Amino acid sequence: MNVLDSEMVIADLKRHGYTVVDSPGEADLLLYNTCSIREQAEEKTYSALGKLKETKARHPEKTIGVMGCMAQKDQETIFRRAPFVDMVVGPGQLHAIPDMLTKVTSGEGRQMAVSLGRKDGKQTVVARSHETFDPLRDPTMRPTPFQAYLRIQIGCDKFCTYCVVPNTRGPEQGRSPEEIVSEARVLAEQGALEITLLGQTVNSYRHRGPDGETDMAGLLERLHDIDGLKRIKFVTNYPKDMTARLLETIRDLPKVSPYLHVPAQSGSDAVLKRMKRGYTIADYMEMFERIETILPEASVSSDFIVGFCGETDEDFQKSVKLIERCRFKNSFIFQYSVREGTKAAANLIDDVPREVKAARNNELLAVQDRISKEDNQKLIGDTVEVLVEGPSKKADRSDPDAPVVQMTGRTICDRIVVFDGNRRQAGQLMDIQIDDVSSHTLIGRVKTVEVVSLGMPG
Ligand code: 5AD
Ligand code: SF4
Repeated sequence: MNVLDSEMVIADLKRHGYTVVDSPGEADLLLYNTCSIREQAEEKTYSALGKLKETKARHPEKTIGVMGCMAQKDQETIFRRAPFVDMVVGPGQLHAIPDMLTKVTSGEGRQMAVSLGRKDGKQTVVARSHETFDPLRDPTMRPTPFQAYLRIQIGCDKFCTYCVVPNTRGPEQGRSPEEIVSEARVLAEQGALEITLLGQTVNSYRHRGPDGETDMAGLLERLHDIDGLKRIKFVTNYPKDMTARLLETIRDLPKVSPYLHVPAQSGSDAVLKRMKRGYTIADYMEMFERIETILPEASVSSDFIVGFCGETDEDFQKSVKLIERCRFKNSFIFQYSVREGTKAAANLIDDVPREVKAARNNELLAVQDRISKEDNQKLIGDTVEVLVEGPSKKADRSDPDAPVVQMTGRTICDRIVVFDGNRRQAGQLMDIQIDDVSSHTLIGRVKTVEVVSLGMPG
């Protein structure tokens, strides 16, 4: 979501005459996009802002802004903790940035634009204050022009007790299918081969319009018809809404990726109940078996929080067991971090010591890594289709003209593949034969077509 928000804001500012520069030293405007999901993310921002104090003292003409979830959550606190900040903009107010900038530079002083809190008015009024900001797209602002994010849903109404998102991003709202399809068409015309649909609970997508209701399956069917698009991915899913209808639609539409990120968060019913996730492990397993039956080739991944309030060793072992039962492609594991304004912060005690959280984090990661590696090993010798993204992190970047560099890309199931190739292959779909694996990466080589010479009889 944040990568997409940054892309949109940069594109908007470019239309207002700004250009992107290479270093903060050259910039007239420094804008931080921020995350509130865990305390660590917020501390990083405050420490980065702290480093700008001197810069602002020496160059008072530079404008410093904070956008994103932290801006929405902390509001005036940001001005208090970093008094040299000129603008604070919540994620539902990004369209206001150019106007705010004009006001700051014309001497009208600090500017703040945030959306209403969940209890500051009627649901419809609060929802309207969290506007989607999806103006015309600028492919040059994306890491690769052939891959694009497309927001289909904003906000979240699930209110998991640990989570700050329903407060910072506001009520759940599905964008209209007409808007989504027309944006996808523009992206395809601009060269996007792969689009990733974004929403906090993307598979719960619903939109009521004059012609009735569209759900996620209906939306995928409409997007599938767009010429030029080769792959459609979507994140993140909510377990309860992974219906048979949706899974059958994914199975029947070849462009739709059978990669399903469906966070379980915990393997213990007692913990899930305190998290107010709305399902039990029996429900999760029923969903998982539905995926296995309808989409046997799917890759499934998950998120886990370790050390949530009251999590015992026994509860934690149930998360280990769940990973062992589901054999996820990968899992993102987080240590519980108390978030002000959430139900858990108000009603539950953060009673798992820091060291225990860290130890559980390491243990769960080790189990997941072992499983990922074992399952990746089964792919050795197979040929997979990869959308090549560009040089890998390990590629030698010292010589931009080197004939051979390590390239990276992903399979339709979201597996990362590296191989020796050349830069021109970026943006191509290529067949790669897998020779070796680690827990996170498949290592392969370009599959060459065998040329067989046949002698003429006589
Ligand atoms: N502490 C730790 N992890 C969290 N997540 C969300 N809120 C918290 C929190 N307060 C994790 C969840 C979610 C992912 C994006 O971040 O696992 O799926
Ligand atoms: Fe947060 Fe739960 Fe909504 Fe995900 S579903 S964004 S974890 S409240």
